[in-house]
Amino acid sequence: MSKIQDTPEVNDQILSAEKQGISPPEHILKKAFISEEKYNEWYKQSIGEPNTFWGDRASEELEWFKKWDTVLEWNGKSAYTWFAGGKINISHNCLDRHVNAGRGNKTAYIWTNEEGVEIKITYLELLDKVMRFASGLKKQGLQKGDRVSIYMPLTIEQIIAMLACARIGAIHSVIYAGFTASSLRVRTEVSQAKMLITTTFTRRRGKNIPLKPIVDEAVSGLEFLQTIIVDPRGESFIPGEKEIAFQSILDSGDPICEAEWMDSEDPLFILYTSGTTGLPKGVVHVHGGYNLFTHLSTKLTFDLHEDDLFWCTADTGWITGHSYNVYGPLSAGASSLIFEGAPDFPDPGIWWKTIEKYKVSVFYTAPTAVRLFMKHGNQWPEKYDLSSLRILGSVGEPINPEAWNWYYTYIGKKNVAVVDTWWQTETGGHMILSLPACKQKPGWAGKPFFGVKARVVDKQGNYLPPDSVGHLIIESPWPAALRTCYGQPERFEKYWNEIGNNYYAGDLATYDHEGFFMILGRADDVLKVSGHRIGTAEVESAIVSHPAVAEAAVVGIPHELKGESISAFVLLITGNEPSDSLNDSIKAQVKKEIGSLAVPDEITFMNQLPKTRSGKIMRRVLKARAMGVDPGDVSTLEE
Ligand code: WT7
Repeated sequence: MSKIQDTPEVNDQILSAEKQGISPPEHILKKAFISEEKYNEWYKQSIGEPNTFWGDRASEELEWFKKWDTVLEWNGKSAYTWFAGGKINISHNCLDRHVNAGRGNKTAYIWTNEEGVEIKITYLELLDKVMRFASGLKKQGLQKGDRVSIYMPLTIEQIIAMLACARIGAIHSVIYAGFTASSLRVRTEVSQAKMLITTTFTRRRGKNIPLKPIVDEAVSGLEFLQTIIVDPRGESFIPGEKEIAFQSILDSGDPICEAEWMDSEDPLFILYTSGTTGLPKGVVHVHGGYNLFTHLSTKLTFDLHEDDLFWCTADTGWITGHSYNVYGPLSAGASSLIFEGAPDFPDPGIWWKTIEKYKVSVFYTAPTAVRLFMKHGNQWPEKYDLSSLRILGSVGEPINPEAWNWYYTYIGKKNVAVVDTWWQTETGGHMILSLPACKQKPGWAGKPFFGVKARVVDKQGNYLPPDSVGHLIIESPWPAALRTCYGQPERFEKYWNEIGNNYYAGDLATYDHEGFFMILGRADDVLKVSGHRIGTAEVESAIVSHPAVAEAAVVGIPHELKGESISAFVLLITGNEPSDSLNDSIKAQVKKEIGSLAVPDEITFMNQLPKTRSGKIMRRVLKARAMGVDPGDVSTLEE
């Protein structure tokens, strides 16, 4: 990673902060729910007596229709339940619980966009819409356990759709609206969705980007899909076959629709994420443990108090949006800002302008965005008053110390806590983090969240001493651990039998003598491009679907802004010649198959791909070539 805008003095400061750490400002220490002392005490209890710790949190924080019989039940392997026998509904905890407590007039969301258009909705108004929509869905025949694909941009309607599904026990599967027709189709097929909820367009960089044609292509011929609900967002709309307007569902619904009593372990949603091989896997999260874990981590990581305004910049198509735009903040009773659009349009000041306008106090974004703003220069944040900010969060990939320092200095004016949060789609919520009132070390993700037994081990599962690099594992289940991979239980098992019977995260990590963890990146063939998780296998199969391509291998190489960029090596079918136009058409093929986020920056045409004698492509050799470095030991190479 190269350094941007840093002087030698700044580098020295960072270096010492990385080693010794820095203390958060006084005002944070004073306000925080969790002091360093309390963290140590709670962490110890959460590991030593998990049933007491989580049982207490579950009774204090949430409302249960019926109390659980057991907190954690675990067979020591991949079978675990949390709060079994308990009855709960996450939509009740996100909405009714607050309204019943007299907090109905609190703002749930401020939605805004590149043009500064604003829509506000209170908890009471949101509950009203969710009940009507949920009831409308029931009248369309949607039942508990049915799956629903949601393909919408970040809007209040999208959140209504998610909560309404949760309310009646339908399982939502949100598909990021930047994905293409084939990705949408595959995900809808795997989950056999009965309904699809979508909009006609999303707005980005001042333009309406149509979504409906993508949906039309994706669903054609899908017999099992019964209804398509379309939010025309003010455009005129004539429903086609199987189609019905979002507003008609709302209008048809009854004003009262009580939340279904769900078992703690009943599935809440499926979210597809990339693995090492094959198609994305559908990670399943449930109503009970996921509710508690996202609720508690939102409240404590972001130290949310009554007067805070929280802005998580993630799209709801990803887990960060599920847990920290929707379920965590609502369950914790917070006011959130949500933003539809690009981070630097109409100019690179739009986010800072938005923070100033609404006095955002807690802000959560990805290192790739921080690096983008570093490149645009300090003059943009300097134009705005950012003094409302108290906590700055980071997620998605390691935050390099230079980016950490820029974020802390130019956005936080050194008067904030920077909280890094390591977690995954599978973990549901924060696992390793820097709590705001605890010491922070730039570049280090921090310490484990309550109940999280993180370790760095070798491939055989032996604990490694501090400062060595190894695999990150979690030794026992936590409340928001994924429960299965939808329709692919064998892929779920792999998480719990790769290294002993621990949860295998797939990341490389190290830890220091004080127990801080640093995440070094993926250990497997999964890429992190601008914080998006992409499997090399997915990109390769998209490239190979091009008629001129015989074989392909892709690797991730370090990139200043994106963290990693994709470099592809392609073997053409005899009779095809490398050319610029072929290069472009292969990129276009990837864009069409997966979406722009997976398009390689570079394509190299090869006469042969480096393989081991057993035929496995040696990505390491390709990566070295792409980076212009020595490939190291190549003795297993075939030729
Ligand atoms: C992978 C999970 C967690 C929500 C967004 C991504 C990487 C995530 C960090 C961090 C270092 C991080 C890991 C992880 N990652 N956060 N703070 N520091 N690496 O979820 O798409 O499931 O990706 O993202 O490699 O395994 P995801």
